Amino acid sequence: MQLVRIDKTHWAGKELYYHKRVDSTNAKAFSYAKEGCSHGTLVIADAQEAGRGRRGRSWCSKDGAGIYMSLVLRPSLNPGQAPGLTLVAALAVVKAIHRVIGECKCQIKWPNDVVMNGKKLCGILTEMHLMDSRIDAVIVGIGINVHKTEFPEDILTTATSIEEETGKCYSKEPLIEEILWELEGCYEEYIQTGNLERLKEEYEDYLANKGQVVKVLDPCGEYQGIAQGITATGDLIVDTGTEVRLVSSGEVSVRGIYGYV
Ligand code: BTN
Repeated sequence: MQLVRIDKTHWAGKELYYHKRVDSTNAKAFSYAKEGCSHGTLVIADAQEAGRGRRGRSWCSKDGAGIYMSLVLRPSLNPGQAPGLTLVAALAVVKAIHRVIGECKCQIKWPNDVVMNGKKLCGILTEMHLMDSRIDAVIVGIGINVHKTEFPEDILTTATSIEEETGKCYSKEPLIEEILWELEGCYEEYIQTGNLERLKEEYEDYLANKGQVVKVLDPCGEYQGIAQGITATGDLIVDTGTEVRLVSSGEVSVRGIYGYV
């Protein structure tokens, strides 16, 4: 990738570190955060040797195949409000992809997977670092499969890339710039209220699960219901037929009953 230049934004990506190869951009971003980098600092890499996913999984990060980037945020929020930033980032990514690609079936699988035609093309890992019980930095790591690539066996049927789904080869730089620009806007809205009140409607417009039967993989017992939407704190509202349950993203996973979404 050529050295990226972000012109469109006010603060996101203005301090920028580009690496050809890193262990994990989230790990690198954290070390820059510890050294005192500014709000909006962006770390980008062409490849990751130890790309991290949610729930201890890894993230397939082959050379040049995708966007691997992490943004350092320094929000004035309570630690409990930081997880909502993951949903904020997912909304920004979907909006940016629509802006760059145009009409397409790019949606959000709650809480923060971005899918196209029902397959996952983007994952987001948000990690929070506290100092004296207050937020020092929130690292929002975004991985997007842009070009055709070979996925590991375990995600072969659920993963995809933008190129796979659209048949077109998009360059990464404009996508990165649009994502940062959308993220700035969504972030500012989130910060105003400290919750998703102002973004909920738009998030739900892109929510692939909305109105669909979902299987909630709760460790205390799986159950099914119809996903109604989200609360202002980002919980998924699931109507089981006998009761309405709120599903918190930190605790459980949700699947469609016929496939990934
Ligand atoms: C998921 O499991 O869905 C989240 C995947 C997040 C991957 C991205 S790639 C850039 C950043 N650096 C990492 O190590 N992980 C995130």
